[in-house]
Amino acid sequence: MKIIVLGAGYVGLVSAACFAEFGVHVVCVDQSEEKIAALLRGEIPIFEPGLDDLVKRNVQNGNLSFSTSMVPAIKEADAVFIAVGTPTRRGGGHADLSYVYAAAKEIAQNLSRYTVVVTKSTVPVGTGREIMRLMREANPKAEFDVCSNPEFLREGSAIGDFMRPDRVVIGCESERAAAVMRALYRPLYLIETPMVVANLETAELTKYAANAFLATKITFINEIADLCEKVGADVQTVSKGMGLDGRIGRKFLHAGPGYGGSCFPKDTLALASTAQDKGAPMRLVETVIDVNDRRKKSMAARVIEACGGSVAGKTIAVLGVTFKPNTDDMRDSVSLDVIPALQKAGATIRAYDPEGAKEAAKLLNDVVWGKGAYDAMRGADAAVILTEWNEFRALDLEEVKALLKTPVLVDLRNIYKPEEMRAAGFTYSSIGRR
Ligand code: UGA
Repeated sequence: MKIIVLGAGYVGLVSAACFAEFGVHVVCVDQSEEKIAALLRGEIPIFEPGLDDLVKRNVQNGNLSFSTSMVPAIKEADAVFIAVGTPTRRGGGHADLSYVYAAAKEIAQNLSRYTVVVTKSTVPVGTGREIMRLMREANPKAEFDVCSNPEFLREGSAIGDFMRPDRVVIGCESERAAAVMRALYRPLYLIETPMVVANLETAELTKYAANAFLATKITFINEIADLCEKVGADVQTVSKGMGLDGRIGRKFLHAGPGYGGSCFPKDTLALASTAQDKGAPMRLVETVIDVNDRRKKSMAARVIEACGGSVAGKTIAVLGVTFKPNTDDMRDSVSLDVIPALQKAGATIRAYDPEGAKEAAKLLNDVVWGKGAYDAMRGADAAVILTEWNEFRALDLEEVKALLKTPVLVDLRNIYKPEEMRAAGFTYSSIGRR
């Protein structure tokens, strides 16, 4: 089988490399000459565990190649996956589909045989049908079907999520296209991955519904955590006690500083906007967005309180700045709220992140970057754990105490136990626990 993947961003690159690993011939296309030149040199523009090896291996065995143009490969392609960006449009919550539609038109103009056009980018309900219309308009003779195949991969574990997914969702309205999709996902059929096949709109909405539900679950436990603090309960135990109910499930019930990343914030906004437009407003999702935004903004106040009510003239060590571990992605990370707010309150920030410092340095000003966690904490008045990287989970507490001017630790990811930290001599605060 031969496919083209349009877009060498997160979803595009991971999908291209994973399909190549399945034995499909993949050409990954991106408009950015710089990005393609780097990929051709073997440089991977994002940090994702295992991705560089997967790309290298499949480039070497000839299954994966990169190009700035879809034209040479399209004549032989069984399918073209659209995995270009869908950023939030300025001045509203809607996803910007201009890259998706431009890609669809270009595909239509270059088709010379039956091809399945698949949206992998998260696109609002109705986009697949609009792509169909635009393609027919651009090339009335073109033979094609449009499918929706939303991606459910998580940054940091994207390859595992692609290779061993909970399910594959395919929105597809012709048997011919379904046969192509089944052939592409054959290795997953062999491991009995459930396939949910539906019409275009159903598949598109499933993706938004899944992300909005997970964002709601997180926001729910975050509000329970706030209540735990008021009543003397422990959120981790509440979460365990709830999550063991099979109907609820334990995952995505970790209280923290609020969700971030490139997906939940953008997708919840887009879903709420679509729902408004269609006259079926989703008040629950709108509230989740609002509660989460306020939560992220309120985290700096927690740090200030832990520092005795003021951080003016103090140095705060921040451990972790990415929106979650195992990524260098800074999009909508809580650090972008917390660090500027602490600086505004008069603090100097020393920070360390195992992978995110380069990206973060473009977005945050006046941060002193430490060479490691201990280096960032040297001489600081307090330390704040913002991202739960594994290397922060087993810090040498005696060394931390010796490095900090005062042993104040604010753990916004609940990776330490309050009683152990207190026994070790720390003034420790966390989320939803005493
Ligand atoms: C999310 C979904 O989990 C994927 O299934 C989906 O494919 C992806 O969006 C997407 O739409 O492309 P991702 O954004 O990579 O994946 O990261 P998550 O692991 O879901 O975490 C999102 C945010 O929620 C992070 O800020 C994380 O710290 C936070 N979170 C997650 C919590 O605060 N508590 C939890 O229990 C889980």
